[in-house]
Order: sequence, then C-alpha cells, then structure tokens
Amino acid sequence: VKAVLKRPSNAATIRTDLLAVLLAGPDATLPAAAQALDTKMGGALARAIASGIATAKAGSGTLVPAPKGVPAQAVVLIGLGDGERDDFEAAGRTLGKQAGEARAARAAVLIPDGTDAASSRALVEGTSYGAYRYLPHKAKDPQAAPALSELTLVGSGISSAEVARATATAIAVSAARDLVNAPSNHLTPSDMAARARRLAAEIPGLTCTVLDEKALRRMKAGALLAVAQGSAEPPRMIVMRYQPQGAVKGKKLLGLVGKAMTFDSGGISIKPSSHMEDMKMDMGGGAAVIEGAGLIARLGLALPFIAIVPSAENMPSGTAVKPGDVITAMNGKTIEVINTDAEGRLILADALTYAVREGATHIVDMATLTGAIVVAIGDVYAGLYGSDADWTDAVKAAGETTGDLCWHMPMHKGYDPLIRSKVADLSNSSNKREAGSVYAAQFLREFTDGKPWCHIDVAGTAMIGGAGTGFGVRLIAELAAGMAAKR
Ligand code: BES
Ligand code: MN
Ligand code: ZN
Repeated sequence: VKAVLKRPSNAATIRTDLLAVLLAGPDATLPAAAQALDTKMGGALARAIASGIATAKAGSGTLVPAPKGVPAQAVVLIGLGDGERDDFEAAGRTLGKQAGEARAARAAVLIPDGTDAASSRALVEGTSYGAYRYLPHKAKDPQAAPALSELTLVGSGISSAEVARATATAIAVSAARDLVNAPSNHLTPSDMAARARRLAAEIPGLTCTVLDEKALRRMKAGALLAVAQGSAEPPRMIVMRYQPQGAVKGKKLLGLVGKAMTFDSGGISIKPSSHMEDMKMDMGGGAAVIEGAGLIARLGLALPFIAIVPSAENMPSGTAVKPGDVITAMNGKTIEVINTDAEGRLILADALTYAVREGATHIVDMATLTGAIVVAIGDVYAGLYGSDADWTDAVKAAGETTGDLCWHMPMHKGYDPLIRSKVADLSNSSNKREAGSVYAAQFLREFTDGKPWCHIDVAGTAMIGGAGTGFGVRLIAELAAGMAAKR
C-alpha cells in the first residue's frame, strides 16, 4: 500500500473506493470533518452511531454504502478506542481488511486533528497489514479486483516525510511476511541471499556479500556447516553492510543477526509430523533482519550497521550431524550436539562470532529459537534477553514504540549448568525440561565476547495463525533511528 497525503477541504468531495471515518471513544462522536459528508448521506452515519451499530471499540468496523452524489463508493466507520498508537494500528488493520472485502483499490481516511506522527504512521502500517495477502501460489483469478494499492491520508497533522516513512515501513514489513510465508522449496538459503543482494543493488550505501560453503569452510564456521550437512541445500552466511554518507566511521557499529533456517525438520532428532509444515517460518528472525536492514538504508538513517544472516536447512540424512557429535564453532569453542533440533543456537554461534570480529559494538539477534518461549508468553510478546542494561532498555523501548512488544526475560550464571557438557566446552541442549528459552540465550551469550548484546526469541511472534507477521522489522528501524539521533 502506498500512502499519499491530501488536504481537501471537504470530506464529502473525496473520490475513492472506501472512505474511513474514525470514531473516538468513549461515545463515538462523528468528527466535525465528516459532518458535511453525513448530511449528504442523509444522516446515515449519525444513525449508525446512535443505534449502536457503529461503536468506538478499537478496530471495530461498520460499512455504510454511500448514496448517489457522494463520490466515495462506501464509508466505513472504524472504532478508535482511546486513540493510543496501538488503537490507530488496529483501526488501520480493520480498514485494510474491509478494503479487501469491499475489493477497494483505493481508500482514504480522515485523520483526526491533533493526531501525532507515530499514530498516523501506525494507521498506514496497520492498513497495509490488514490488506496483505499471500497469493503467489494460487491460480490467478481473472475476476479478482486489484488489492488495495493507495491510501489517501486526509488531515493536517502529518508531514509528507512521515507518510513516505510509513509507506517504506509498510513495504518492508510486507516483504518480511512474504519471506516467512514462502514455502521452503521456494525459499532456500540461496534464495534468502538473493533477496539480500537485490536490496543492496537497489539501495545506495547498502552492500551485500554472501559467504558460500567454501568460504565458510575457510573461516572454520563449523557450527553452521554441521547444521547444514544433512541437507542437499548448501548453507549461506549473508552479510549486509551499510555506511551512510557523511557518517563517521569507527564509533558505534550496530550488529544485526538473524536466524534463517529455511526449514527445520529437527534433523536426526526429528520433530513430530503435526504442524511440521510451520517450520518453513524458522527463518523469521533472518527475514526481519534482512528487511529491517533494507529499511534502515532506504530511510537513509545516519547509522552504520552490519547485518549477518546465517541460513541453512535442517534435515535428517546419512550425512546429517548426529546426537553426541562434537563440533567446533568458528571461535574455537567445542559443542556437544545433544539434540540436532537445537540447531538455531549453533548457526547463531558462528554468526555472532562473525559480528564481533567485524567490529559490531552493539548486537541484537532475532531468532525463532525455542518452543519454550511460546509456552511461556505466547504470541503477544517476544522474549528479550540482554547482557547490558542500557542496550536492553533501548531495544525494549524501540519495540514498545513500534508495536513489536518484547518482554525482558532473566539471564543468570545459575542457568549455566544447563549448557555444560562432560565432553565438550558447551552442550547445545539439556535433557531437563526447564528454562528452555533461557538457557538457549545463555548459550548464545558465550559467542558475544562481552559486547552489549540482546537476543529476541520470536518463535511465538514471527508467525501467527499460520501466517508471517513481519515482527521485528519496525523494531530494528526504530532502534537504528534512536541510535542515529543520539550520535
Ligand atoms: N525452530 C525451533 C523453535 C520453534 C518452535 C520455532 C516452535 C517456532 C515454533 C527450534 O529450532 C527448536 O526446535 N528448538 C527446540 C530446542 C530444544 C531441542 C532444546 C525446541 O524448542 O523444542
Ligand atoms: Mn529446531
Ligand atoms: Zn529451528
């Protein structure tokens, strides 16, 4: 969805397929800007509110067909709740969904006076989210109307720069959702790399280098190679770098790391077949990092970064890594593979080592790492772990600003017995069924060389109801924007 800005004097004259009017709580008063429109509609809007059909409940939507003489095809009354940022996002999602159902290609929305920029952006992002469909593998329907492609914002409180930022954000989130939704036979590690390369080709200042098997062997990336060795698909380590024009080198370097298992069968420690198809989403962290990195560069934020996305497929075969095997990670630490299904922490181990070696000063990784975090906190919050209080606070705040909610989870050396091995430096899994998400984080920390680092376990939030969410893209861009402003 591309958002455009207009300031027409009269809502009754807006030519569009679907015109949204937002109803603020508690008593859902019709905004003044919609009064003339309602008059032209014979009072239908006021009646819908008076009868209680249309309410201010956040995200509720009531479609009212427009009569002849009104250039909009239909009006949708959307509840705005208390008018918080999240309510604007929910209102947008409803608008996007209604536009899909009404087969509207163009929509417009009246922005209430006094709406702040963050809320206006949330409205655009929500609309794009609600209108999103994943259809590349469906037969083309010749009757199908084009999806919502243009959203006109009507109001005075938002600048065209903010609108452009919201549009770029919505496009990046949709792109991450496409990656998560893509079946693993259509999105291999090489395909992930191709996507990163394309972004780098499009955006000034952004470069991409892809390390193949040979390069990974030369670098002794033993953990990533071990995870990939059971699959016919070769692994990749995708490296994106951004050096904005005029930014001073050598101060802060943001390190973004994202897990990208394009399919996780569990390997020899194979998963149960029920819902195994969802494991095409095990690259959700990597998708957020690639598209988040692209968004930072697209917005031209004045903050250099390095983004590292290790990508592989976890498969059982005659060449697969086996329980009990001892492997050597890139930093020289040995790992006993107790469970081949705890593969994410292995590929991240080498990616974190690489980030540190490349000079990252502040690291954040995103990964669909554990089922345990889903059991603990479900799909509302992602689990946030950190080694540095200030950095963790910054990551958490960026999530709160953008709606990518993160809950701060504990780390403590008291959990370390769970990552100890009798035969190697570390064990990738414990047979105790406790603190599964915590000790995964504890394991990752071993590869961060004491740098300020955060880990976000997005196993519960990257895919909801079988569909990718793009969780993390906006958090990454917001985090970078905050760091750029402070430099
Ligand atoms: N990719 C999974 C985690 C996952 C589970 C993501 C559910 C999304 C939804 C990860 O690789 C995994 O299998 N983790 C194991 C770790 C265990 C073997 C220590 C798990 O959570 O069961
Ligand atoms: Mn696994
Ligand atoms: Zn996995």
